[in-house]
Amino acid sequence: MLFIDPTKDLDTISSRDAFERHVAEHAPAGFLEMRSQQLRAIEQNRVLLDHLKINLHGARCLDIGPGHGDSLDLWHELGASECAFVDRDPWSATHNRLKPYRPRGWQMQHFLSIQQLPERHFDFVWSYGAMSARQWYCRAFRGFGLRHWLRRVERLCRPNATIVICPHWSARDGVRLDGDPEYHWIAESFERAGFKPLPFLSGHNIEPVYPITWIKEVPRVRERTAARRVLDFAAIRKLLERISKWPAGAVAAHCLDSAMELIELADFCGFVA
Ligand SMILES: C[S@@+](CC[C@H](N)C(=O)[O-])C[C@H]1O[C@@H](n2cnc3c(N)ncnc32)[C@H](O)[C@@H]1O
Repeated sequence: MLFIDPTKDLDTISSRDAFERHVAEHAPAGFLEMRSQQLRAIEQNRVLLDHLKINLHGARCLDIGPGHGDSLDLWHELGASECAFVDRDPWSATHNRLKPYRPRGWQMQHFLSIQQLPERHFDFVWSYGAMSARQWYCRAFRGFGLRHWLRRVERLCRPNATIVICPHWSARDGVRLDGDPEYHWIAESFERAGFKPLPFLSGHNIEPVYPITWIKEVPRVRERTAARRVLDFAAIRKLLERISKWPAGAVAAHCLDSAMELIELADFCGFVA
């Protein structure tokens, strides 16, 4: 029997009714599961905004991995001037695109392509459950992958913006597989990128899979990360050779868009004197 991918023509759908008919016909399990958790997602967002006392009126907001996008609806209700999103799931992307206030959205793999979004644009960036320490991109080069992604996310922000990231942690039978998040390498990567952990917020964090949220207030003036160092060129060449052989290396190199970033990667890997 011929398999026809039900997501193939999603980007041509232009009305809510047509989209809902398509959902009813194909019952996409992941999307429907996210739809069933609407209230939970709104509450998680609201608790955090109340805790931070953030006023989103007139703000340009971005959700990285919104799924059903209930965050976007809340921000719209709170008067945000922009409720944008990036999600690789075609069902979520189409659903969010067709909301009445027409959010701006990008359907893409955010680890690889987030830098395609406008620079110095957003006041509030939120990501709940769209990254995890187990993903190869985050782990690349002993956590440099995550740090580099955080830096690309920060570039999308205006000065004084707030970035809030709550990673997903894998668990089995109610027990987290990777131990205590505060002592995990992921904590070091977040902290080296200038993020701080928030206290556990009941109604926002959920044990064991969403135990910790990191936050960063983007500084007014961008930090200069390009420290002057003595470069060990032979070692950097060795690093480049290693990158190009490693299957994920070509992809990592694709995301490094300046010589300075390569030097920083070399530094991170201990190749700079
Ligand atoms: C666990 S759901 C969370 C949805 C929503 N943030 C919430 O709190 O209900 C993760 C969402 O992130 C998206 N996502 C995960 N990894 C992604 C990636 N690498 N690039 C783009 N989207 C991603 C998924 O498609 C999904 O919509």
